[in-house]
Amino acid sequence: MEYPAHFNEAHLPTPLIPVRHFFKKINKYEIYLKRDDFTGVELSGNKVRKLDFLMKEAWEKGARHIITCGGIQSNHCRATAFYATKLGMKTTLVLRGEMPRNMTGNLLLNRLLGVDIKLVTKEEYKRVGEIMESIAAQLPEPAYVIPEGGSNEVGAWGYIRAFKEIMEQDSSVDTIVSASGSGGTHAGLLLGKLLSDSPVQILSVNVCDDEAYFVKKIDSIMQRFCSRYNYSLLWERKDIRILDGFVGSGYAQIGRKEATFIKRFAHSEGIVLDPVYTAKAMLGFEYNLKNGTIPGKKIAFIHTGGIYGTFAFSEMF
Ligand SMILES: Cc1ncc(COP(=O)(O)O)c(C=O)c1O
Repeated sequence: MEYPAHFNEAHLPTPLIPVRHFFKKINKYEIYLKRDDFTGVELSGNKVRKLDFLMKEAWEKGARHIITCGGIQSNHCRATAFYATKLGMKTTLVLRGEMPRNMTGNLLLNRLLGVDIKLVTKEEYKRVGEIMESIAAQLPEPAYVIPEGGSNEVGAWGYIRAFKEIMEQDSSVDTIVSASGSGGTHAGLLLGKLLSDSPVQILSVNVCDDEAYFVKKIDSIMQRFCSRYNYSLLWERKDIRILDGFVGSGYAQIGRKEATFIKRFAHSEGIVLDPVYTAKAMLGFEYNLKNGTIPGKKIAFIHTGGIYGTFAFSEMF
């Protein structure tokens, strides 16, 4: 398999380490953490893998301004802004929400970087694609628009590559679990599995919307991937396995349950799960492990990053 042209800003391979203490009582499984929170510092988390492909395409198309979008504490937007700055490109972030009185987390880092931030309401965000295109049309320099989460057929290459990396680190891994926020990570992993004709099971825990939404979204990223890169891969919608039920009170909202879980995991492993993605995903993973609904024996859970978002929840800890 040949990868399209890409940059290599993500520090790879990320470590695959055993979870030593947290799952001690569930001894049916061997559980590993794939530390994709180690892809870098300013450029950290799962988005960097996708951006290696997206930013290369943008650069080769002659773009010198990147426009993308997300929630006010979006990890993707922060990673994109730093990536673009490193390449000498300008950035406009379309963020959903209001400017808080205390600047913190990813938003603080974006502010420090001095990128353009356009705030929109939840209602306006429903047509964020249009908003980004109209910003692009008004700029003096050529611009490239990256969809929410970098989740499209180009960004998917990042997790096709990650799938291969995990298999090279340990070919006896039989299940991979991650969080789904915009579906690109899951789509890339599933494409990676199909492209290498592997029996590995791919599962994700949704942190917003529901199972039906993600099955449709992931399926559509995969279809666009196949048509753009000319692959004929076969899958059915039922192969897109989403562990639903852990969104809690909503996207980027946590309660006592999630906060306690984050503390419990940190106390046990010395590793911080972020409130928006990895904590909810790990919660869902633990629940399904206990219920025996996770297939396989050796499981890699991908820590997709998000540590800066934690600072926006300081009152919960
Ligand atoms: C830390 C973190 N983990 C997981 C995800 C979810 O990944 P995806 O958007 O590819 O579903 C995101 C972004 O949405 C993220 O920032």
